[in-house]
Amino acid sequence: MEETATLILEGKSYELPVVVGTEGEKGIDITTLRQKTGYITLDPGYGNTGSCISEITFMDGEKGILRYRGIPVEQLAEKSTFVETAFLLINGRLPSQKEFISTSVALNDYSLVHEDMQIFFQNFPRRAHPMGILSSMMNALRSFYPELDNTLEEANKTYLRLLSKIRTMAAMSYKISNGQKVVYPRPDFSYCANFLNMMFDSPVKPYNVDPDLVQALNVFWILHADHEQNCSTAAVRVVGSGRVNIYAALSAGVAALWGPLHGGANQAVIEMLMEIEKSGVTVDEVVKRAKAKDDSFRLMGFGHRVYKTYDPRAKIMKKMCDTVLSKLKTYDPLLDIAKRLEEVALTDSYFIDKNLYPNVDFYSGIVLRAMGIPINMFTVMFAIGRLPGWLAQWKEGAEDPDWKISRPRQIYMGENVRDYIPLSERK
Ligand code: SDX
Repeated sequence: MEETATLILEGKSYELPVVVGTEGEKGIDITTLRQKTGYITLDPGYGNTGSCISEITFMDGEKGILRYRGIPVEQLAEKSTFVETAFLLINGRLPSQKEFISTSVALNDYSLVHEDMQIFFQNFPRRAHPMGILSSMMNALRSFYPELDNTLEEANKTYLRLLSKIRTMAAMSYKISNGQKVVYPRPDFSYCANFLNMMFDSPVKPYNVDPDLVQALNVFWILHADHEQNCSTAAVRVVGSGRVNIYAALSAGVAALWGPLHGGANQAVIEMLMEIEKSGVTVDEVVKRAKAKDDSFRLMGFGHRVYKTYDPRAKIMKKMCDTVLSKLKTYDPLLDIAKRLEEVALTDSYFIDKNLYPNVDFYSGIVLRAMGIPINMFTVMFAIGRLPGWLAQWKEGAEDPDWKISRPRQIYMGENVRDYIPLSERK
């Protein structure tokens, strides 16, 4: 017997279907609400609203669970690679050995970008933020690779092309913005090794790819690969629902991720930690400011719309800080400040009562600093990691024959009807 929810409005009762997910999560299906009752629902920020049914990622915010296509992120971080995880997210299963090899070869084959793209990069102002460049260049990609027809074969080619080229574009943009010679991808390097080499190799100082950093980068990108209907993924789905080409939808995703409340938080966390180090302000004073109602300052990297416990990704990222720094035999004072901040916050009733814990962005910047990634590229690193998720989510929408254009409603609270007053009659 199908479960239903009973709604009583103005003395009339309505039965609305209840949808039950794989893990028992429940939602009230309101697709016929307005037609039946004339009412809509109101949920600014969509904290209580499901936008779709999806088979890609499962999160349990109370238990701190994150699974990609059913596989716990902890297992993928420990045993998988970013390329394999990207395949899993996009195709719904792990690749066979043959598929893994053919995917790796394709990613190498597609790793170059059109030489004319360098002209675009060279003409951005030197102070342009890499996320603004990436969003523009993601859109520009379509000019170089016009929409392929939507056959599965062609669509897969587009996904692999994007996964490979976002990495090349990011490194190329970094080199050109620093006035350095562009380093081309190498067919003998893995996905992550290629990125590090394209970023840091130079004719005067050849870069030695450190396998520990390659492993850390795989884990970093696996942890960022998807996160169900977060702000930027929702943007990709909303923009894609108008049937615009995939490049434009992804460009919108990059733009949404840039915000400091979302992916831009990884840059904001490090800037916050650097400010604490430089100003000498105490951690207790920082926590006090974060709690103050009249102060807009927030503890960046803390809190989450879904996780009401420790973000499982932050746990792995925190451990990775220690392993990467010890392997590199380097010390980062910002890590001590971050750990102290966490310690003070997690024993403070404000954070405990509001279920505010470190999220993926709280420690991720420490790992990126250890790799030598410049701060203004931290969110680009997040975007490269999130691309497989955006692709998988866009694909899930595009393959739905009933993919509806996203068009929320509103409750109007403006002026009642009134007449136009000609300018001559106004004071
Ligand atoms: C990401 O959605 C995803 O999955 C995102 C992401 C992904 O992988 O895609 O996980 C990546 O974006 C992680 C979040 C990165 N952002 C930050 O770290 C910025 C700092 N965090 C906050 O701004 C906030 O916690 C959000 C934006 C993450 C979540 O905001 P919500 O769910 O809208 O919660 P809210 O702003 O309504 O806060 C609830 C209460 C408020 O206090 P009251 O008004 O109830 O008294 O908690 C307080 C907030 O003031 N609060 C904080 C806080 N976060 C929330 N107070 C101090 N410091 C904070 N960080």
